[in-house]
Amino acid sequence: MSDFGLSRILLIDDEVFFCETFKDALADDGYELVVVHTGGEALRELSRQAIQVAIIDLQLPDMSGLDVLKTIRNSHLEVCSIMLTGHASMETAIKALNQGAYAYITKPYQVEEVRAIIRNAFEQQRLSRENRRLLEVLQESNRHLMAAKYQLEQFNRELESKVEKRAKELARERQKNERLTELDQLKSEFLAMISHELKTPLTSIIGYSTYLLNLSPQERMSEIVDGLTRISRNGYILLDLINKLLEFSKIEAGKVDLALEQFDLKEVVEEVSLITAPMAREKKLQLAFTSPNLPVLVEADREKIKQVILNLVSNAIKFTEKPDSQILIQLEDKGNDFVQVTVSDQGIGIPKQDQEVIFESFRQLDPAASRKTGGTGLGLAIAKKFIDIHQGKIWVESELQQGSRFIFQIPRRQPWA
Ligand SMILES: Nc1ncnc2c1ncn2[C@@H]1O[C@H](COP(=O)(O)OP(=O)(O)OP(=O)(O)O)[C@@H](O)[C@H]1O
Ligand SMILES: [Mg+2]
Repeated sequence: MSDFGLSRILLIDDEVFFCETFKDALADDGYELVVVHTGGEALRELSRQAIQVAIIDLQLPDMSGLDVLKTIRNSHLEVCSIMLTGHASMETAIKALNQGAYAYITKPYQVEEVRAIIRNAFEQQRLSRENRRLLEVLQESNRHLMAAKYQLEQFNRELESKVEKRAKELARERQKNERLTELDQLKSEFLAMISHELKTPLTSIIGYSTYLLNLSPQERMSEIVDGLTRISRNGYILLDLINKLLEFSKIEAGKVDLALEQFDLKEVVEEVSLITAPMAREKKLQLAFTSPNLPVLVEADREKIKQVILNLVSNAIKFTEKPDSQILIQLEDKGNDFVQVTVSDQGIGIPKQDQEVIFESFRQLDPAASRKTGGTGLGLAIAKKFIDIHQGKIWVESELQQGSRFIFQIPRRQPWA
């Protein structure tokens, strides 16, 4: 019996007598036997009701049994087909097996054998139905799996992009942290250095003034002049230091304003030469200045530009050791729109990798050398800020042990003024 209690056989044979005896032979087996005599009728029955097993005579009046078999293979896969054949058509029977028939029965037949074949055919039909059902289940779960796989891949892609984004964020945070630690370190070094820088000139001022106060009136005038010179120089050093700190704190607070005026840049460079000449003389360096013949008029913040040039020339003197080296200040017109100042020295030079960082605050390349020469490491940072707010640019060209050229350009007039 088939699964659903249905066990319907379609017998297709044009011999009426054969059909009757066949029917009798199976009478006790509980099958429902539908008998038709032509291929056309068979196809109608197949479309009309559920058939589990079809027994097909090879020779039908209207078509060949093989054609019926073909239709079953194409359109009624659930039907298990058994071919009926005479001894004469064994070859055709084998052909039928090759085309998908389950078995064949030869006429005349042995009843027991036929019963066994039909039983097996029902079993086969049941199994292949079960197979198809399982296949459908498999296909269905495969579809679910594919959908789940697609979702997983989607999820994976989202996860990957999230991880990547987070990794980038972390890298940025780490960079920020490193930068903060570095700044922190620089600030500590700066505090240590600034205390030292303040102490040296102050000790000298206190020392000389005490010494002078203790001199008797008879003692020589020249001692007093010498002492006062030292006091005054150290006073200037202190003033310069404090000015730089003030400028820097203004920059940090974002409070730098430009006090614009029109002036001759040549005059400013000359003033700087005068101020720095004694420093240069002391180190036996030659200080020279070239400029166009006519005044170089600019509209800018005079004090700030002077401070920039002063820092560049002081640096050139500080970082040049060889006596007789030349320090050159060049003032040039750069067309109608720009003027350029270049300060060149033949000093210790700056390694390529440091040529950018020296414009950052607190940067001193050789702390030991700077301690010897003094300074806060703020000069170039302030200079860069001042040039930036004039819409200009400042940069350095340098070779280690050969010397450095610091160059800046500013617009002749401030565009917004
Ligand atoms: N002409 C130069 N030759 C070689 N190194 C230089 C020169 N100018 C600047 N540097 C390097 O750049 C660093 C930063 O210069 P910056 O003017 O900012 O500071 P400083 O001169 O050390 O201190 P301050 O300007 O406050 O007196 C210097 O400490 C030095 O290491
Ligand atoms: Mg300096």
